[in-house]
Amino acid sequence: MRQIGIGIAGFGTIGVGVYKHLVGNRRLLEERLGLELTVKKIADLDITRPRTPMPPAELFTTDWHDLINDPEVQIVVELMGGVKIPYQFVMAALEAGKIVVTANKALLAEHGKEIFAVAAEKRIPVFFEAAAAGGVPIIKALKEAFVANHIRSMHGIINGTSNYILTRMTQAGLGFEQALAEAQAAGYAEADPTLDINGWDAAHKAIILASLAYGFWVDGKDIHVEGIQNVTATDIQFAQKLGYKIKLLAVIKSDESCTENCPIEVRVHPTLVPESHVLASVNGVFNAIAVHGDVVGETLFYGRGAGQDATASAVISDLAEAAVALETPRPNFGFVPHGLYGSCTPIEEVVTPYYMRLAVIDRPGVLALITGILSEESIGISSVIQPEAHEEETVPLVLMLHAAPQGRMNRATEKIAALECVKRPPQVLRVESFA
Ligand code: HSE
Repeated sequence: MRQIGIGIAGFGTIGVGVYKHLVGNRRLLEERLGLELTVKKIADLDITRPRTPMPPAELFTTDWHDLINDPEVQIVVELMGGVKIPYQFVMAALEAGKIVVTANKALLAEHGKEIFAVAAEKRIPVFFEAAAAGGVPIIKALKEAFVANHIRSMHGIINGTSNYILTRMTQAGLGFEQALAEAQAAGYAEADPTLDINGWDAAHKAIILASLAYGFWVDGKDIHVEGIQNVTATDIQFAQKLGYKIKLLAVIKSDESCTENCPIEVRVHPTLVPESHVLASVNGVFNAIAVHGDVVGETLFYGRGAGQDATASAVISDLAEAAVALETPRPNFGFVPHGLYGSCTPIEEVVTPYYMRLAVIDRPGVLALITGILSEESIGISSVIQPEAHEEETVPLVLMLHAAPQGRMNRATEKIAALECVKRPPQVLRVESFA
């Protein structure tokens, strides 16, 4: 049987998972592919730490150039983490004619345009199934299964750590820090969880999904990103009373009426999702992406978006495809640009309904002042809750607002925040109606 030589760069949790399952499921892979996927070299700065399983010592090197220079390595797997060194590694691999598999969402979000330009020029494919939603095969779906579709929208829960934290806050009443510590202990969060919490891990994945779906490489500067750091237990409870769950949602949408050079929406933020929508029931570390194509209609992808085994499953699926690509060259080198879409709608122009929670002094006329400002900005109110319970000198006032452009909502929020009767900065969250 023909042997395909693989070099793994970065031998942390995911690298070990890839090695473990390549060895453990060797027979099945050989039967399915008619090829033998053999790890020839592993590069990592730490080659003495014991791993389970532990590869033979002679496979290890501390210098990634050894993978590039080894003629027996035909496919490299980039699992290093960070951006600068992985970028050098991936570019060097493409220059050397080696197929690249990467799970690095930050690398692709920041440098996808250059990487795929070189891949197309050299006619060497780059595979990246594990870079978005871990074990959920959304990349292959976008590249292949939806080829007949204009993608109307994608709504994704694509950061397992945030979803885990929000779920534990909702279901077990945990505080934010406690829920984050649990997610870290379970290995879901990144080593530095900042990007999980501030929305950018999900944003990197949203950039990849949007770029694939809409055929231009989306620039991180053009999208809107908010994390879950300011979502409180109080918001979660009010949302539940109103019939919603709060989720960190990536929303990617096109305008159905547009036909050429169309703008798309790409945004990541905590969102009130109606309890009746299937995404409201996606809990814990699970990811889910609802994709609406103009031909296929609604589809749903669900599974583990983080963790050693789920991510290894995606990496190995890329290795299998890469091995087949060595035998049968293909026209798609990872990303195919086209000219139907071409820009992102500025967030000020994005229209959504809103949830607004205020801490106000309980005295006559307060509601009138607030509704007056909303009315000046032509923002309609769909419901109001003002429980009698006081928090120190204030009462909570929760308003559900009809759809309005973000720019008008920002103006209204600023004016409301400046009122003497409003005691803390307003909490404003978007509501997704899935219309
Ligand atoms: N930290 C990520 C998450 C894992 O929580 O989803 C993979 O991107």
